[in-house]
Amino acid sequence: MNTVHSIAQVRAAVSRAREEGKRIGLVPTMGNLHAGHIALVRTALARGDFVVVSIFVNPMQFGPNEDLDSYPRTLSEDQAKLFDAGAHLLFAPNATEMYPDGLNGHTQVSVPVVSEGLCGGSRPGHFNGVATVVSKLFNIVQPDLAVFGEKDYQQLAVIRKMTQDLSLPVHIVGEPTCRAEDGLALSSRNGYLTPRQRQQAPLLYQQLQQIAAAVQSGRRDYAAIIETARHSLESAGFTADYLDLRDADSLAAIGPDTRTGVALAAAFLGKTRLIDNLRFSMRP
Ligand code: PAJ
Repeated sequence: MNTVHSIAQVRAAVSRAREEGKRIGLVPTMGNLHAGHIALVRTALARGDFVVVSIFVNPMQFGPNEDLDSYPRTLSEDQAKLFDAGAHLLFAPNATEMYPDGLNGHTQVSVPVVSEGLCGGSRPGHFNGVATVVSKLFNIVQPDLAVFGEKDYQQLAVIRKMTQDLSLPVHIVGEPTCRAEDGLALSSRNGYLTPRQRQQAPLLYQQLQQIAAAVQSGRRDYAAIIETARHSLESAGFTADYLDLRDADSLAAIGPDTRTGVALAAAFLGKTRLIDNLRFSMRP
């Protein structure tokens, strides 16, 4: 597996692979890779012949008071994991390569409606940053398919909508969330947790399970169901950012036609912001 840092090098390597008739898969990441990321790589390998993984801690998607500077950067460990997984090319640009003129005045891709509320509500501009960098990566690599995790449920919906609206010739593949044995969704940010917070963290997923079970049992008093979950989280020391129930396909409010719902949550344990979600059928 080669590691390259420039756009020109990726384009050269990908065009060689394409000339050999290979189907190109892309897995965009911010690095500090864990088993969840590697699952995306394996899916890309199963569906494509030449898999490009990108590692770029994208400054455009971080707010001014977020963890851009402290975000874990572990390139050599990541390279070893990608090599073991069988990825073909690692693209690890720096910010100057991606944003030579800086962020001020840079073109942004914005995906209205689906970006609003949930993480988009608490992280203004976040999804513009994600949509912009992912469209740049799509233009740089020109993959046939790209794999994203369902763990970032709204992000996946934003990318699907952007791809459809801009007629991008990329097949978007969603990967189920990889979890630790106790249910906690794997995340690069889990490394920020103290041992005590790590013990408390699985409660987030447990509360999503409670919400899903309540709806599946026939309850439709959504506000009350969510309030109970919020109370359990806050009693255990979480600060809830949002807890919500939406239609899993549109991310709109659950309506009479909703067949699959999704419970979504973001909550802080100390300074660490954890997100998770759980999809469920509306019928028992
Ligand atoms: P990052 O948080 O590094 O995640 C990269 C990809 O891995 C995303 O598609 C994310 O949904 C997926 N992922 C993370 N944890 C996962 C888990 N436990 N199970 C399954 N998939 C998981 O998401 C980003 O980076 C960035 O926003 C990016 C899309 C790269 C744009 O900068």
